[in-house]
Amino acid sequence: MAGLLEQLAALLGADAVLTGEAVRARATSWIDLAPLQALAVACPRTTAEVAATLRICHAARQPVVVCGGGTNLVQATRTCADELVLSLERMAAVVAVDPIHLTLTAQAGAPLQRVQEAAAAHDLFFPLDLAARGSATVGGCLAMNAGGVRVLRYGMMRELVLGVEAVLADGTQLSSLNTLLKNNAGYDLKQLFIGSEGSLGVVTQAVLRLFPAPRSRSTALVALAEFDLLVRLLHLLQRELDGALTSFEVMWEEYYRLTTTPPAPSRPPLPHGARYYVLVEALGSHPQLDNVRFEQALDRAAEEGLIEAAVVARTAHQHASLWRVREDSEQIERQYPLALGYDVSLPIAAMESYVAQVRAELRRQYGAEARCWVYGHLGDGNLHLNVWAPQFVDTDASQVAAIVYSGLHTVGGSISAEHGVGLEKKAYLSLSRTAQEIATMRRIKQALDPHAILNPGKIFDPERIHAP
Ligand code: LAC
Ligand code: ZN
Repeated sequence: MAGLLEQLAALLGADAVLTGEAVRARATSWIDLAPLQALAVACPRTTAEVAATLRICHAARQPVVVCGGGTNLVQATRTCADELVLSLERMAAVVAVDPIHLTLTAQAGAPLQRVQEAAAAHDLFFPLDLAARGSATVGGCLAMNAGGVRVLRYGMMRELVLGVEAVLADGTQLSSLNTLLKNNAGYDLKQLFIGSEGSLGVVTQAVLRLFPAPRSRSTALVALAEFDLLVRLLHLLQRELDGALTSFEVMWEEYYRLTTTPPAPSRPPLPHGARYYVLVEALGSHPQLDNVRFEQALDRAAEEGLIEAAVVARTAHQHASLWRVREDSEQIERQYPLALGYDVSLPIAAMESYVAQVRAELRRQYGAEARCWVYGHLGDGNLHLNVWAPQFVDTDASQVAAIVYSGLHTVGGSISAEHGVGLEKKAYLSLSRTAQEIATMRRIKQALDPHAILNPGKIFDPERIHAP
């Protein structure tokens, strides 16, 4: 029998199976620019080619890592030199937009932004949005169950998918391109692939839900003095804006200072010195009315003493500037490359004391120079913490993880809100899932991928291999 790479080249064409220098010419990820390590990169063009590729790999017990835009934050697509990268970069089309039933069908390699633009071209709206929109793909957003900045109103990727076409590890093609809003005919198999980080199958296409395109967009940055006021502001805006509130993105003062101080490109739209800053956005259908109502809501918040200052975006340029302050978390990676990133979920009522406790413990163990930038999707109960200390050159990341994760369990929090587990968080999975839950995950993995070829070692370690 021909070798694996020869079989793949015969199947896909030699130009679709990169090896050697062509592999090393690619970066590991958008953060880690070291040369990609992999046996080869296979770039199929069709679902049938994906299925045939997996049949070959299944037979050969060849590990396969499916890669999208390379923007995930937990090393979910990290590869070893003996793993095959399956890239869906040649399957990047928006296949169809159905303006009657408000659906969009896209291939898994399509970048999120392409989907958003295809919807907009039909005066429709795909609401999932995140800073990596230009690179992150539909398949990656599905595999990681991406969240982002509009979950408050539209939910995570899971809530925005009606159907998927996927290929199982053995090459079985599972076409569940359902377009119905309601379909309770048995198990909802697509859910197995959403959030399973490429470990249960390879999604090749998806049917996504669209919404009417918004006609108005109201955006403001506000400054607040106390955590309790944040919660009151969230409730006030939800009530006053009749459900139009789409984003409630909080930045603790250190984060705001970092993204609005050189070398960051943004200048502070509101002065430094408040304890909290929130980017609020509402999308609606009646431009004049909506903007008036939005400003009235902010006025009311000011009258009630909730906010110290606010700046409302008037132009597209101002909208973009305000969002850049929030989305420029890249400043942390650029200025503090050794900083460690966390993505936790917890009840809003527990957040203030949780952050204070993490900070105090960091200071105790690493001294006054320890930094902790906190920001995130407060309305979703989701905070991102990025931690750095001068000692991080040779520190043990598990010591920092212990500090960040120790307060979560007692308040019912999670070690991963929206970034997934990958390699980075797998040692901590049992902090957020019971032994029975993890055992059930393993049984599903075993049933769908008996030779454990799909993204092995991500989320949890593979079962010990038993002799045949
Ligand atoms: C964000 C990414 C880090 O919210 O999830 O900016
Ligand atoms: Zn986020």
